[in-house]
Amino acid sequence: MDANQAPQIEKAARLLREARSIVVLTGAGVSAESGISTFRDKETGLWAKYDPMELAHIDAFHRDPELVTHWYHWRFTRCKDCEPNAGHYALAQLQEQTEARGGSFSLLTQNVDGLHQRAGSTNVSEIHGTILTWRCTKTGEHYDLAEIDFSSFPPASRTGGILRPNVVWFGEMLPEQELERAFRDSSSCDVFMSVGTSSVVQPAASLIELAKGAGASTIEVNLEPTPISGIVDVSVFGKAGEALPAIIDLCKEGLS
Ligand code: OAD
Repeated sequence: MDANQAPQIEKAARLLREARSIVVLTGAGVSAESGISTFRDKETGLWAKYDPMELAHIDAFHRDPELVTHWYHWRFTRCKDCEPNAGHYALAQLQEQTEARGGSFSLLTQNVDGLHQRAGSTNVSEIHGTILTWRCTKTGEHYDLAEIDFSSFPPASRTGGILRPNVVWFGEMLPEQELERAFRDSSSCDVFMSVGTSSVVQPAASLIELAKGAGASTIEVNLEPTPISGIVDVSVFGKAGEALPAIIDLCKEGLS
């Protein structure tokens, strides 16, 4: 971790340590060090190689379900071999610490990879859904991956419907309950921390402004400046897998 980030790390730790309610919003950057590609990073991002409108739009699925389901199956097989990294574990620890002292903690993620839960985070709100369960487009019945026959694409349900991943595609509504929770928690927290997201996809990107407008202190952890860097109280520039453990270790020290 770059030594010149130390003052920002201290500031972030102080805010989190004193907060009664914390909201953390994560994006693809938090899973980058686990080996999962982000979307918009130049060269390595998925959208540098693939067109989101061909693969992550509801119209693309209707046009070519074979291609789209095959691509999501490929993404799942890549994710399945990845492990949570130090950033995921640090956020699980922050939740434990905050709840142990009677505070509230809400983790909202745009990621569909399930790595936060595997690191021990609980009650995670997956606002863009999950790649780990699929559903029948005819009956709505949910299927675990182990129950699905992926020998041909698109995969079929037991009733002969087409199966699709439980993710939210462009052109679709976000799950109502998750959205309600995201707005409610963001507008009533003391500290809002955004980690590893380019903050360009709505409505997730606007949650930090909502929190700030309602009086919360705001923190951003990212490799580089983003559109929200100008409005946050603290910007920590570095890898989530290094910055988050550094921040959470300082939080712990302050409590001992
Ligand atoms: P993006 O790919 O847009 O942004 C990833 C962010 O993570 C960038 O700002 C990077 O600088 C930052 N980053 C990369 N590596 C990092 C690291 N090790 N530590 C910290 N930061 C790092 O991903 P999201 O913001 O999550 O939606 O994208 C939002 C949505 O757009 C996704 O959920 C997906 C995508 O299209 C759908 O598919 C519907």
